[in-house]
Amino acid sequence: MEQATTLNIVVLISGNGSNLQAIIDAFKEKPGMVNIRAVISNEASAFGLKRAERAGIPHHVIDHTLFSDRQSHDLALQNAIDLYKPDLVVLAGFMRILTPEFVQHYHGRMINIHPSLLPALRGLHTHQRAIQEGRAVHGASIHYVTEELDGGPVIMQGEVPVLPDDDPDTLSARVQVIEHKMYPMVIRWIAEGRLKLDNNRISLDEKILEKPVQYTSDLPICH
Ligand code: GAR
Repeated sequence: MEQATTLNIVVLISGNGSNLQAIIDAFKEKPGMVNIRAVISNEASAFGLKRAERAGIPHHVIDHTLFSDRQSHDLALQNAIDLYKPDLVVLAGFMRILTPEFVQHYHGRMINIHPSLLPALRGLHTHQRAIQEGRAVHGASIHYVTEELDGGPVIMQGEVPVLPDDDPDTLSARVQVIEHKMYPMVIRWIAEGRLKLDNNRISLDEKILEKPVQYTSDLPICH
């Protein structure tokens, strides 16, 4: 399906921003396809803000410690995001639990990347837990965000092996290699109008997705 308009996105981060960088790199030659309108962090020290700066993307800090409760932080965040009128909000290592009101406001237009094969290992410290549980396979999932933490419909999953000598850092690095390929691919599908959420069911190319797309390196980003 041909894409008619640019997909405007706002990316939320809390830290390093390597997924943000992958998205910047994937679309820098295609601003008519995906336009990163702004990057917003809840952490002033997030390195991802420097990446945004370097790429000339407007960036802001909405520091959660300056708010008395989660509701008021999320409302300020929502107001900051909506100034940019995004079609899609992309959570890229945004380490905050979101209020139901915030999640509902972006229903069907907010996606997250999580470092596990959901529904396994929701929450934090997924690499360490994968090793401790003796899992042979680990990975990453991209899902639409719903009120259930790490529980929304999964669009794509990619697997990596857990190796005998792995520690959380080596395993995380292996997962991130595929994350950086997966996220631009899914964003591109949304930009092309191929991927949608309808009644909490994902459709890809007008067909309901019965299970997540399995990432492989030969799923092309560009075609
Ligand atoms: C990514 O690996 C992402 O999967 C994870 O944080 C990392 C951020 O890295 N997200 C979560 O754990 C969300 N629950 P980055 O800042 O380098 O993109």
